[in-house]
Amino acid sequence: MSAVFPTLITQRLALRAWRPEDLDRYRTMSADPEVMRFIGDGQPRTSSDAEISFGRMNEAWRKRGFGIFAVEELETESLIGLCGLEPVDPTVAAAIDAEHATEIGWRLDRSCWGNGYATEAATAVTDWAFSADAALDLRRLLAIVQVKNTASIGVAERLHMVREQRTIVPGNQRWIDVFEVSRAAWTAREAA
Ligand SMILES: CC(C)(COP(=O)(O)OP(=O)(O)OC[C@H]1O[C@@H](n2cnc3c(N)ncnc32)[C@H](O)[C@@H]1OP(=O)(O)O)[C@@H](O)C(=O)NCCC(=O)NCCS
Repeated sequence: MSAVFPTLITQRLALRAWRPEDLDRYRTMSADPEVMRFIGDGQPRTSSDAEISFGRMNEAWRKRGFGIFAVEELETESLIGLCGLEPVDPTVAAAIDAEHATEIGWRLDRSCWGNGYATEAATAVTDWAFSADAALDLRRLLAIVQVKNTASIGVAERLHMVREQRTIVPGNQRWIDVFEVSRAAWTAREAA
């Protein structure tokens, strides 16, 4: 298992461990209908639901050695969102025949859309995920995106992920696109 909570620094961002003071901004983001529109059932999260998932993000790192990073803008030192890895939800994994696969995800506060931050963060996470430092031994990463979420599809495409399938999630009846990048393709592109 890798070190608990590495910090990844990019040109404009720090991807870092969650701090207790991040909770308020995380709650605000989770309550924003526009931010949550294409996450799961599309409902904004209540304050207590947000608090529960906040705790789980920290716990995941301890349990698995990977998880979701807090994304901070270096210039302002403020939390602007999240990006990281998690196991594909079992219901979705069964629907797309991807048991035990790992998913990359991204989410930004609405005020920070349109700056290239999600792509910058996701590039750093993918570099890390396939690196010897992470020691995760991943063969591939998936991104699972609701088909109407064009902004998120843009991020997957800028990462050169390949759309492998389109299907419907049994639980919430939403159509999803499944994007994939293999370690081989990512490292070949990086080396080029
Ligand atoms: C999905 C989400 C993170 C995408 O955010 P985003 O800001 O559109 O994506 P990026 O950070 O990659 O930024 C790309 C945009 O920034 C622009 N941009 C501006 N300055 C830039 C720079 N210096 N470098 C790169 N892109 C830049 C690009 O042109 C592009 O704009 P366009 O979409 O109008 O062409 C955001 O819409 C979001 O948080 N949505 C809610 C949560 C969500 O749905 N998450 C995904 C679940 S699968």
